[in-house]
Amino acid sequence: MTNADLEKIVDTSDEWIVTRTGIKERRIAPQGMAVSDMSVEACKKALEASGLKSEDIDLLILGTVTPDYKLPSTACVIQEKMELPNATAFDIVAACTGFINGLSVASSLIETGAYKNALVVGSEKLSSIVNYKDRNTCILFGDGAGAAVLTASDDDSGVVGTFLKSNGNLRDLLWIKDGGSANPYTDDYVFTGEDKISMSGGDIFKVAVKQMCNAAVKIINDAGLTSDDIALVIPHQANIRIIEAIAKRLKINMDKVFVNIEKYGNTSAASVPIALDEAYRAGKIKSGDYVLMVAFGGGLIWGSALVKW
Ligand code: COA
Repeated sequence: MTNADLEKIVDTSDEWIVTRTGIKERRIAPQGMAVSDMSVEACKKALEASGLKSEDIDLLILGTVTPDYKLPSTACVIQEKMELPNATAFDIVAACTGFINGLSVASSLIETGAYKNALVVGSEKLSSIVNYKDRNTCILFGDGAGAAVLTASDDDSGVVGTFLKSNGNLRDLLWIKDGGSANPYTDDYVFTGEDKISMSGGDIFKVAVKQMCNAAVKIINDAGLTSDDIALVIPHQANIRIIEAIAKRLKINMDKVFVNIEKYGNTSAASVPIALDEAYRAGKIKSGDYVLMVAFGGGLIWGSALVKW
């Protein structure tokens, strides 16, 4: 879906969207394609790249806010479609930081020795929860999926550390008010848009820049490193201006920051793994590199992960 397509639906312009967000296009999954279907495509590619077999996977974690069903977890649906007989599977609801939360949980569980090979997925069909009458939000979001395999090893590569934080006081800055157990759909429910995403963009912008910087600095300091040691930053792709502000504050040149927002928009939990995969396959990450991932989303919630490749 291009900006020109959106011009036909809401009062907006390609010029406004590109200048304010950096987004030119976003992908919209067809009707009948669920988050589990997109996830399976990503999982297959990740598994192939890892050289492992489906029987080797003992942990599957999916970050999503657009599950196939309210019950069961979509991770269980993926488990069936991917045929992962030896895995336990569950979802994490952490909005745009879903992949980083998943990475944190998976690496921690692997470190205990209880699990060996984890598939961590971020996948969203945001088009199913976006209000296409609301120009404040519909121009931002897109659909997508990304996945990574984490495996136990004795060398010094892997997840160096993760940092996770949230502030539930700010939950109404980005939420879907109705349809859950707090405001369930009743027989006389009237659809007025509260069943879709609503957002206070300007307020989120400020918190996003501040807390993504804090999360990045914390993880770099905890590892005894400086920004100069970071080979590549994979930020959540929400707004090019947020990404550039973070790079400036961290004193990291934009050529060390991976950006693909122009093609996909904000894909929430899928944003970081899609960017990570594109960066890796484009040869931008080599063995021994420190890769910093940082994200921010509805909750409000934010987090970072430092990986030595
Ligand atoms: N097309 C044209 N005009 C639009 C528009 C659109 N799609 N959306 C909003 N506008 C208008 C507003 O109504 C406002 O008009 P007004 O001044 O007459 O009231 C004007 O543009 C400026 O709006 P403002 O909200 O100040 O713009 P902004 O520079 O803050 O950009 C966002 C808006 C949403 C792009 C920006 O705030 C943002 O990206 N915030 C973070 C959101 C985010 O990342 N959410 C997900 C978190 S994971």
